[in-house]
Amino acid sequence: MDEAVQSTNDWMAAIRAHETARADRYLRDPYATLLTGPDPEGTLAALRAMNSPVDIVIVRGRFGDEALTRALARGVRQAVSLGAGTDTRGYRLDLPEDLVLYELDLPGRLAAKHHVLATAGLTPSCRISPVETDLRGDWTSALAAAGHRPDRPTAWIVEGLFYYLDPATADTLLGQLTARSAPGSSVQLDIPADDYLTDPANTEWLAYLVERGSPFLGHTADPTGWLAGHGWTAESYQPTTLDTCPWLPPPPARLTSSYRHLWHVHATR
Ligand SMILES: C[S@@+](CC[C@H](N)C(=O)[O-])C[C@H]1O[C@@H](n2cnc3c(N)ncnc32)[C@H](O)[C@@H]1O
Repeated sequence: MDEAVQSTNDWMAAIRAHETARADRYLRDPYATLLTGPDPEGTLAALRAMNSPVDIVIVRGRFGDEALTRALARGVRQAVSLGAGTDTRGYRLDLPEDLVLYELDLPGRLAAKHHVLATAGLTPSCRISPVETDLRGDWTSALAAAGHRPDRPTAWIVEGLFYYLDPATADTLLGQLTARSAPGSSVQLDIPADDYLTDPANTEWLAYLVERGSPFLGHTADPTGWLAGHGWTAESYQPTTLDTCPWLPPPPARLTSSYRHLWHVHATR
């Protein structure tokens, strides 16, 4: 199970590498090519053939870049990425030197990512603190041991994670992060809508995920209400309504027309 879910990281890097190579790119990640598995284009074609929602990776990446930039402009100086995977924000964005970016993921892959990037001669623009831990368990003490300050605001990045956590585990995790979110904190996340799991268009893709040991478990009908229950003020968008987000550069239709029933959410408290 853990290996299967961790290997989805190769897909994320392949998707970002492909987008970056386009002249009309909506997201630029020049380091994604260093982090793909073998045959990234073949992987991408296979994912698309199964109706995997690959384009959400690009849209949530840009959504997250904009949300993080806004948090930094408010003076936030610690960010925590839950399920960071092959994300390279600490390298590809011009972040403040005094920002600490905690990257949390299952044990086994974070060190290798930073080794690959360092071997390519790259240095992060902020301080990155990798924390290998299972987010279904007691991850908060590992984060505290790494130096996270719950009395200071945090920008939480939760991209591509809630798919793999059942609703009860997701709710526990949201409660845990909320308890470590001083006023001024923000959270950006994506999560399937209830309809995603019942849409016949997704049958083959969802069956493949079950077969390979990384089933989609997470879903919510009402992310704004879910977050409000934990004390957050949230704005939630589906791909068809992202053009109403006042701070997001409008994503091109080629990206937002290819997936549906997935939420993009940003919240503050
Ligand atoms: C689809 S990838 C998304 C990675 C990255 N956030 C991105 O958008 O490219 C899902 C990530 O969540 C991590 N993950 C899933 N379940 C986890 C758990 N229980 N504890 C820690 N990390 C987990 C996986 O290892 C993987 O890195």
